[in-house]
Amino acid sequence: MRILSGIQPSGKLHVGNYFGMMKPMINNMDRGELYAFIVNFHALTTVNDSKSLSADTLEAAADFVALGLDPEKCIFWVQSDVPEVTELAWILSTVTPMGLLERCHSYKDKVAKGIAACHGLFAYPVLMAADILLYQAELVPVGKDQKQHLEVARDIAIKFNNTFGDTFVLPEPGIDDNVATVPGLDGQKMSKSYGNTIGIFLDEKTLKKSVMAIVTDSTPVDEPKDPEKCNLYNILQLFAPEERMREIHELYVNGGAAYGYLKLELVDILWEYFRKARETRKKLVADKSYLKNVLAQGAEKARKKAITTLELVRERVGLKY
Ligand code: ADP
Ligand code: TRP
Repeated sequence: MRILSGIQPSGKLHVGNYFGMMKPMINNMDRGELYAFIVNFHALTTVNDSKSLSADTLEAAADFVALGLDPEKCIFWVQSDVPEVTELAWILSTVTPMGLLERCHSYKDKVAKGIAACHGLFAYPVLMAADILLYQAELVPVGKDQKQHLEVARDIAIKFNNTFGDTFVLPEPGIDDNVATVPGLDGQKMSKSYGNTIGIFLDEKTLKKSVMAIVTDSTPVDEPKDPEKCNLYNILQLFAPEERMREIHELYVNGGAAYGYLKLELVDILWEYFRKARETRKKLVADKSYLKNVLAQGAEKARKKAITTLELVRERVGLKY
């Protein structure tokens, strides 16, 4: 099976990215042919600071490898190193109905949050479809927020296949319902663009500051609380051992859950949880040449596959003469 997913280097990666996309990709390493990439063309729709984009691209790559992505077991590259994707995006855009893009929540949400409504942001799902279809991906592990974008990719593939003949594999979303959406500090979806994240690789002081900022209600310690409605509980659940989680559940239901204390416990749990990855990451960041080499080799392999698909597409639509 061909499994593919991408992540934007539009800021520091957070625990929502880890559970929604990175961990499922890492777990899929032995299930088939794995394609993982850093989607910097997509990040351009929201980032216009060249220094941060460039630094965050390499950092996102370091994060992914530190967390367990083995470059020997997958094809790992930076999106813009395979420029063929932009040609496919253009061709796909000519069979994409406007209505399909107009219905996309992500575009509307981002504009509502104050991100400038440029054409790239509107056409974002077409570039994402190109990412997926160029490599003929069968399974795409993502968080729930990307479900609609995957439906768009499928719709575009179907439209193309119906118009020009069978060309693209139809991709399936790989969404883990248990961790479909990790809540942020404020209870909304955790997202780099909402400023409500807990970074994976924060220093201890900043980590503590982030966790202490998790929004909780003002129910007194001794009173019972609804765990499902508590943002802190929902985040703890992702990291705390099952046994401890059962005890915490009791404290919520029967009274006795002290938010401040539980937050400090979460800081300790998080610090331990990512300890090994943090140490690996330190080494990767210190020797950038290793990562750059991995990414260059990955791009070369990805490009071969991309060119094969693009040749077929060019022929199908009549660009060969
Ligand atoms: P962000 O919203 O922080 O900019 P991206 O859009 O770059 O994150 O998402 C990268 C991957 O991480 C996607 O597969 C996305 O579904 C997943 N993801 C992002 N935020 C969350 C979250 N809060 N919960 C679960 N998965 C998430
Ligand atoms: N839109 C995805 C996100 O924000 C990132 C992405 C771009 C992607 N191209 C992709 C994900 C292809 C999976 C497959 O998270």
